Amino acid sequence: MDRFVIQGPTRLEGQLAVGGAKNAVLPLMAAALLSRGESVIDNVPDLQDVRFFMTILEGLGARCQLEFNRLRIDTTDLDSHEAPYDLVRKMRASIYVLGPLLARRGEARVSLPGGCAFGPRPVDLHQKGMRALGAAVDEEHGYIVARAPGGLQGGRFRFDPVSVGATCNVLMAAVLARGESRLENCAIEPEVTQLVAALVRAGARIEGVGTRTLQVQGVDSLKPLDDAVIPDRIEAGTYLAAAAVAGGRVHLEGVRQDHMAPVVAVLRDLGCDISEQGDGLTCERRGKLQPVRVETQPYPGFPTDMQAQVMAAAALADGVSFITDTIYPDRFTHAAEMVRLGANIEVKNGTATIIGTERLQAAPVMASDLRASAALVLAATAAHGITEVRRVYHIDRGYQSIEERLAALGARITRQSE
Ligand code: UD1
Repeated sequence: MDRFVIQGPTRLEGQLAVGGAKNAVLPLMAAALLSRGESVIDNVPDLQDVRFFMTILEGLGARCQLEFNRLRIDTTDLDSHEAPYDLVRKMRASIYVLGPLLARRGEARVSLPGGCAFGPRPVDLHQKGMRALGAAVDEEHGYIVARAPGGLQGGRFRFDPVSVGATCNVLMAAVLARGESRLENCAIEPEVTQLVAALVRAGARIEGVGTRTLQVQGVDSLKPLDDAVIPDRIEAGTYLAAAAVAGGRVHLEGVRQDHMAPVVAVLRDLGCDISEQGDGLTCERRGKLQPVRVETQPYPGFPTDMQAQVMAAAALADGVSFITDTIYPDRFTHAAEMVRLGANIEVKNGTATIIGTERLQAAPVMASDLRASAALVLAATAAHGITEVRRVYHIDRGYQSIEERLAALGARITRQSE
């Protein structure tokens, strides 16, 4: 298992290009199952999660090839409708194959994802949504088994709470269902909107793109996808937060300013200077950080996937910060690890209270989930001494060569393999 060894503190200075969004490419990959033939997706980041989803698609009979950030998925010889436990347990997003398989093959068998490092993550809405489209859905021996032998039928469904994954999954099923569907209280994260737009380009009939109500008129078949993945707003936010935590100036190229607004607002509250130029964004921190109050919300609110990185900054702020995660109230495993780095954090009832400190100190810490791990790496760049971050495979799931990119900004970070 690899670990990062990070010597701090260092200021960060320099520029980076942002890659394609992990959370946008995964539903697009699943959507490739909806048509027969070769889908082409550009600007695909070479991440563990993408490689992993390719394995799932290959298990279903698809052929996948990722070269120079172009992903080709050929679904001509699809011959299975099962996503087995050994694959699904490694990545919850595997559940995205449920809707497309059910729509295209009339049957899907997908392992229940099981536990997660940031608390309970049910998949009941995915199942209820498929039922609303006329499927019989059961749980058998740890698997979701969904059947619609006569095809899916349009229906009405309301997501409560708003769910990124369930919106994508049920929508992918609805586009090939007979008749009309109405999906209410849909997620409007940019990654969802990208999927909706891609489906429309492939021939789906969907009204309400970018809104919380999607009205779908089912079609008999779709064309293969031909799309480019939007920039990763969480990767971008993480590197901007790195400038906040370590101090210095980081310029990013290739961002979508509109997608970055909730994160930029919090970075400004932290006292960072942010400047926007076309598709470029610069974050500079010169003086002390200011305390913040942050509450995660579905988009366009502040993303839960940026909560840990902001906590690393708040740990060094001049005052007391409060971070509440309304989406995953238990998503605070990073807090205890940050305490090992000298941060002063207490978590109670879904809110972290962070009393800022002048100085973090190096310590061995353990990564527990993707964004938590990235936050520990950021904290380590500011901590005095040599920090070891263990279990970095979590980071590799969602950040391409984070150590090379931070090193290019001046961080003293190396990867060690055991
Ligand atoms: C996606 C993102 C993840 C992000 C999360 C919230 C991907 C691959 N992952 O995860 O990075 O942190 O959105 O922005 O895109 N819920 C239910 N029942 C369900 C499904 C969800 O109650 O069937 C609840 C969840 O417990 C949570 C809330 O809905 O409280 C939102 O979760 P959801 O948007 O579904 O998250 P994911 O799609 O799993």
